[in-house]
Amino acid sequence: MSNDWIVDYLQPRLTRNGPEHLSRQLYRQLRELIRLRRLAGGSALPASRALAQTLRLGRNTVLSAYDQLAAEGYLESRHGSGTYVCDAFGDAAPQPAHADTLPRQLSLRGQALANASRLPARKLGAFVPGQPELGLFPHKQWQQCLSRRQRSAPLAWLHYQHQGGLPELRAILSQYLHLTRSVRCQSEQVVIVPGAQSALTLLAQLLAEPGDTAWIEEPGYTGAQAAMLAAGLRCQAIRVDSQGLLPDPAADPPRLIYATPAHQYPTGAVMSLPRRLELLAQARRHDSWIVEDDYDGEFCYASAPLAALQSLDQDGRVIYVGTFSKVMFPGLKLAYLVLPAELVDPYRRCQARLQGEGSYLQQAAVADFIEQGHFARHIRHMRELYQRRQQLLRHALEQRLGSALPLHGGDAGMHLLAELPDGFDEWELQAAAAERQLWLRPLARHFLDTPYRNGLVLGYAGIADHAMRPAVQQLADLLETRLQ
Ligand SMILES: Cc1ncc(COP(=O)(O)O)c(C=O)c1O
Repeated sequence: MSNDWIVDYLQPRLTRNGPEHLSRQLYRQLRELIRLRRLAGGSALPASRALAQTLRLGRNTVLSAYDQLAAEGYLESRHGSGTYVCDAFGDAAPQPAHADTLPRQLSLRGQALANASRLPARKLGAFVPGQPELGLFPHKQWQQCLSRRQRSAPLAWLHYQHQGGLPELRAILSQYLHLTRSVRCQSEQVVIVPGAQSALTLLAQLLAEPGDTAWIEEPGYTGAQAAMLAAGLRCQAIRVDSQGLLPDPAADPPRLIYATPAHQYPTGAVMSLPRRLELLAQARRHDSWIVEDDYDGEFCYASAPLAALQSLDQDGRVIYVGTFSKVMFPGLKLAYLVLPAELVDPYRRCQARLQGEGSYLQQAAVADFIEQGHFARHIRHMRELYQRRQQLLRHALEQRLGSALPLHGGDAGMHLLAELPDGFDEWELQAAAAERQLWLRPLARHFLDTPYRNGLVLGYAGIADHAMRPAVQQLADLLETRLQ
């Protein structure tokens, strides 16, 4: 039997530039395949040179993994013929020296997902991307909206819901999205979801077959990568430049394309109009779905934001995803989709079955919060604040580091991308920073394949004005010596 599947299996499971050496990862993955009998005794492994080439690894990396497995009795080389799983491998087979794998009851997909998912060391702090200014959220008004609705909540809201979200909120959102993002939809097309992440996960399951390919921005949002992995899809990393996603115009797109056109995550590029039109045309030619993730489009500092990609879509293939996580607070876990009409019913049914709809009490309070003007006021306030903080960050960095740290992507959003020179060790910097309680996000974390640029994703929205200078001093102290 051909062993090509081994390469397909290994490709998405190796984390480049992660803390664990690639030969160790390869060793662990192969060992697990053997232990779970997915690679039976006598199976041939790919030749080390071919495997190294296809996986874009050094040959020594592969040889070192094979050698370790051979030393532990899992593999044997047969002279002139290749490397094979030991026939003798059975229940009495030697146990590996280090039991450092995840629990065996996880599926292979579960292991890959768990390996690819990291829990951040700390969730709040200077430069943590995606952290809004929580202290200035109008908590009092929000509490009032909640309390008022709580007092009059119908009993039915205590039960399971399957309407696709509170109709009142769906109607308000369709007007809001039309006004602010030029989204074209009926309120019936708006579906309220328990967070954008759960929507990405369900969309990947609904719109593609296991084993299908999905296009993902590279570098890109790790949550989207995880959603595709959870659905059994293969991610094809598509490069991003200063105008956003840059697919080969001659390439046939897959069924599912994920993009962040308003503010590419994490490079901050805004997708240009020609790129948007080209992407739509390409998707139309191949009958693909495009998931447009508009996670922080409200914070646009240029004159006027470009209309959503969805507004240019002529034939209902763009699925618009928006979230309250950045404009209100992430703990709310509330987001929304604008679906092409034909997807509304299947999506609603699957959401009700697989995820549930979240709290209607909260949805009603959000509807009031918007109706009473608190929402728009808070966004206006935060837009000014974040723009100012971005300027503070830029100035402070420039004063300390001059032009040694180019910054990208400030037209919108809550973070900047700081460019680091080729060959810079972002992981070493992250570790050194963590020792000083500074939590940095290497750009390398956002690549599926070998990173083609170096950088840091610097969140600035949650850094109080008075804390900006000390935080930048700390960062600059770390960078100064490393940039020389
Ligand atoms: C690009 C992108 N999309 C989606 C989300 C997640 O949104 P939610 O909190 O609604 O799951 C994030 C969160 O940081 C994000 O960065």
